Amino acid sequence: MSPVKKGKKISKRKKKIEIVSILTGGGDCPGLNAVIRGFVRASTNIYGWKVLGIKDGFDGLLSGSFKELTTDDVVGLQLRGGTILGTSNRGNPMHYPVKKGGIIVFENVLPDIIKNIKKQKLDVVVAVGGDGTMKITQALREKGVNVIGVPKTIDNDLGVTDVTFGYNSAVACATDALDKLHTTAESHHRVLILEVMGRDCGWIALEAGIAGGADVILIPEIPFVLDEVCKHIHKRKLAGKKFSIVIVSEGAYPKGGNKVYIKQPGPDGTPGRLGGLANWVSERISYCTALETRVAVLGHLQRGGTPTTFDRILATRFGVEAANLIAERKFGKMVCLKGRTIKSADIKEAIKELNHIDPDGQSVKTAEALGVSMGRPY
Ligand code: F6P
Repeated sequence: MSPVKKGKKISKRKKKIEIVSILTGGGDCPGLNAVIRGFVRASTNIYGWKVLGIKDGFDGLLSGSFKELTTDDVVGLQLRGGTILGTSNRGNPMHYPVKKGGIIVFENVLPDIIKNIKKQKLDVVVAVGGDGTMKITQALREKGVNVIGVPKTIDNDLGVTDVTFGYNSAVACATDALDKLHTTAESHHRVLILEVMGRDCGWIALEAGIAGGADVILIPEIPFVLDEVCKHIHKRKLAGKKFSIVIVSEGAYPKGGNKVYIKQPGPDGTPGRLGGLANWVSERISYCTALETRVAVLGHLQRGGTPTTFDRILATRFGVEAANLIAERKFGKMVCLKGRTIKSADIKEAIKELNHIDPDGQSVKTAEALGVSMGRPY
């Protein structure tokens, strides 16, 4: 054995990983349970770690709400929608509502969360979530917590990964709705307007619109001109097409105008609830084209139910890779899909920028080549 050179530091041995944990944060989506299953199986089968599930996202880390997950607990989860751990998309730990002297004040409760992580002896926290969850996860990383991120969201708006799981299931749901709306629109010679989710990015509307043969697609990345939408529908009418199908992202808005909210964002930073754009558009289309209009809002149907085969596979691969990253001690990384390969990237890169649709990119051009109006002049 070669002697240790004088003056050279002997590196400290890293603590052996024994207890790993997983939480699901933000709005739910199909595939969360498949991630949990993949992660628990790989962690126990390959690495022999004990896995603790954290209840209700970061709320569970704050209140100390944990549950051991064994391979038996995850049997059959690949097809189950929602999350067996529960989730929360309210109460950011860095701006957490706390009642003090009868009034609500906002506090940074990350130190309490870190205390609980130490108390439970969690060697790693795996956070499955979208943009908001990844920002909190990165903040924990910066405080020295060993974290791994797994990207989810039906909106497909997270940077770095080619796609998030949950998105494919949501697009399938929206496409199915368009197929159904087509038949009734055609029978009654009506304009049917479908509102889908998509706060900042219009992926669901764009890809479901292409797959489901929409005539107009309105997305947040292209502020629309109502006149163009009406002209397009009127042109169809003149060409003998007595019905039209419009799909709108909830976060789309007219050029020079604002997004439509059911509940406005609060002055204290509480997020608002988008909704109502389809009705807004419907009234105006009916006025300017003299056609009968009807509205369908898909809402949380897009977030519920069984994941598609694509999402089951992607979510399972993400869950297994999260365990592999822990074994390689690649903390602060988020698993991601690049092409057909599962890779990883720094969480801080993933939260830099949302995955916006390029208004002049291939997907939008494909829609326009089909004769779809994106609510802008050609
Ligand atoms: O982030 C996903 C998302 O589906 C958004 O498109 C939507 O605005 C939001 O969640 C709605 O969340 P909730 O109704 O659960 O608060």
